[in-house]
Amino acid sequence: MAMTEDQIRNPEKTLVEPTYSKWDKDRLMQFTPNEFMQKLYHRAKNIGDDLYDDRGYEFITLEPEAYKSALILYMRRRAWSEWYFGTVAQAREITLLPESQVNLKLRLARQIQDEMRHYDVFAQQLRRYGAEPRISEFELPPILIQMQKVQVEAQTASEIAAANQFAGEIVLSSMTDLETSIFKRLFDKELMDAIYDIEKDEPPHIANGRDLILLECETFEDRRRLAEAQEKYLGYMMQLHVTEIVKLGCKRIKPVPIFE
Ligand SMILES: [Fe+2]
Ligand SMILES: [Fe+2]
Repeated sequence: MAMTEDQIRNPEKTLVEPTYSKWDKDRLMQFTPNEFMQKLYHRAKNIGDDLYDDRGYEFITLEPEAYKSALILYMRRRAWSEWYFGTVAQAREITLLPESQVNLKLRLARQIQDEMRHYDVFAQQLRRYGAEPRISEFELPPILIQMQKVQVEAQTASEIAAANQFAGEIVLSSMTDLETSIFKRLFDKELMDAIYDIEKDEPPHIANGRDLILLECETFEDRRRLAEAQEKYLGYMMQLHVTEIVKLGCKRIKPVPIFE
């Protein structure tokens, strides 16, 4: 996804995204359901493009051991997320959907299978660095607990999607489709190839999110709830991701995106 004109001109400028959950009825209902869904998509995508753009960072040379331990921690967190954010949320979506949504339920089941493969990809990469995912012993950073809480507390399949497929999964797609992706500079080729391999599966997952959002965005209340779930999740996710990138050997030189 291309950056906005404004970002191209001002890569150092703070990205400001609209807080749709605080918008009044007239403003929020001016969109068709499809337009509203696209607004949520672009909000997440702009945030991903901003967070992962290497022009927002300065590089610091780390001792090899410090880099290795930060990388292992990052990959263990990713393995944990593939497992928990890639199975529980989708299983609940399948359960909450009505019988009539057979096709979408099958697509979500297929997603669970993909996410388990992603877990294995990270497990393999960890072994290359002499480590294991050990997700049952993984100590969750407090911010990750907050992210999980947003998904667990979501009450409908659409709301779960707003904090999962239509939030984190959109942001992660910027890891590979951004020309200036910071990960190309922080990871070795084998790990980056593994990330490309995982990201190949993502477009159908984001499409699952799109279709779940479209199922429940007719009313003002629906839209507010979906917007709020996405905002909360993205707000926490930004903090976690910037912290992780910084630990891998850089300094953030522009503010983290904000909702206004
Ligand atoms: Fe995944
Ligand atoms: Fe996925």
